[in-house]
Amino acid sequence: MPTAQPSVDPSLDLFAAIDRLKRERKAVILAHYYQDADIQDLADHLGDSLELAKRARDARDAEVILFCGVHFMAETAKILNPAKTVVIPDLDAGCSLAEQCPADQLRAWKQRHPDHYVVMYINCSAATKAESDVICTSSNAERVIRAVPEGRPILFGPDKNLGAFLVKKTGRAMDLWPGACMVHETFSAQKIAALKAKHPDAKFIAHPECEEHVLQLADFVGSTSKLLEFVQRDGGRKYIVGTETGILHTMHRQAPDKELIPVPYEDRSAACQGCNQCPYMKLNTLEKIYLALRDLRPRIELPEDLRRRALAPLERMLALG
Ligand code: 13P
Ligand code: SF4
Repeated sequence: MPTAQPSVDPSLDLFAAIDRLKRERKAVILAHYYQDADIQDLADHLGDSLELAKRARDARDAEVILFCGVHFMAETAKILNPAKTVVIPDLDAGCSLAEQCPADQLRAWKQRHPDHYVVMYINCSAATKAESDVICTSSNAERVIRAVPEGRPILFGPDKNLGAFLVKKTGRAMDLWPGACMVHETFSAQKIAALKAKHPDAKFIAHPECEEHVLQLADFVGSTSKLLEFVQRDGGRKYIVGTETGILHTMHRQAPDKELIPVPYEDRSAACQGCNQCPYMKLNTLEKIYLALRDLRPRIELPEDLRRRALAPLERMLALG
């Protein structure tokens, strides 16, 4: 059930009110590239999941971290910087990947493979992190896999598409958890191929959460921050962007002279209004940000022993640079 939100006076200037509350609360606002444009614009720091985790860890002067992303990102902030009050605009902002690999199921998988090293994508709950040997994000996954001792078998989850991409990249065999992102798995290879034929001068760039047959069409594959970097530095003029459409806002700002085409998706459900948008990321609104700063809730709280167990694999990841 979605959390009921109290209403906000419609005449309130939300940007000014958020700015005032932010200063009163000594809050820092972190936002992911998949947030709505307004939210990206008011954030103190924008980033991918790795950059935002580091920002949260290093937020020394702030008393409050307001995390505009999804739940596992805010939870990671709390794990890394437990002295801060961590608030999130909407507690229902989950992630289909995180939901697909609960800790008890990972534990059972590990029991069936007791000699394996467990690498989990950061898109999972604190309880699932606590069962892992090391965490990775889409930015550093290759480096993390290459750091696993040679000859040690690997369990990788929860994203089978990122996992398959890493098997190809690193040549390491891995057992993959059968999870997928509900947004990236709707992208249609057929429609992308047609779009490429219509725009032969465009490069197709994609997030590694896309399915293998989609990634095969890509000129470049990378995390959200790597896609942004690529478009800025590359000599081309036109890009078909294979990830959540929120990123187009920052991409346009960073490379105003380039043409950006959002990726087409397969209508797998009649109810789908825009399958290239993450319904969880899009739960966050200016009203909810205002309320979260005003009331300092919903808060992320974690039992200390769980936090410590989830911290160890995150620190192992961060130590890799
Ligand atoms: P990034 O690590 O690229 O920020 O990706 C996070 C995510 O949830 C992608 O769907
Ligand atoms: Fe999770 Fe996919 Fe949304 Fe990213 S885009 S937060 S992986 S559901």
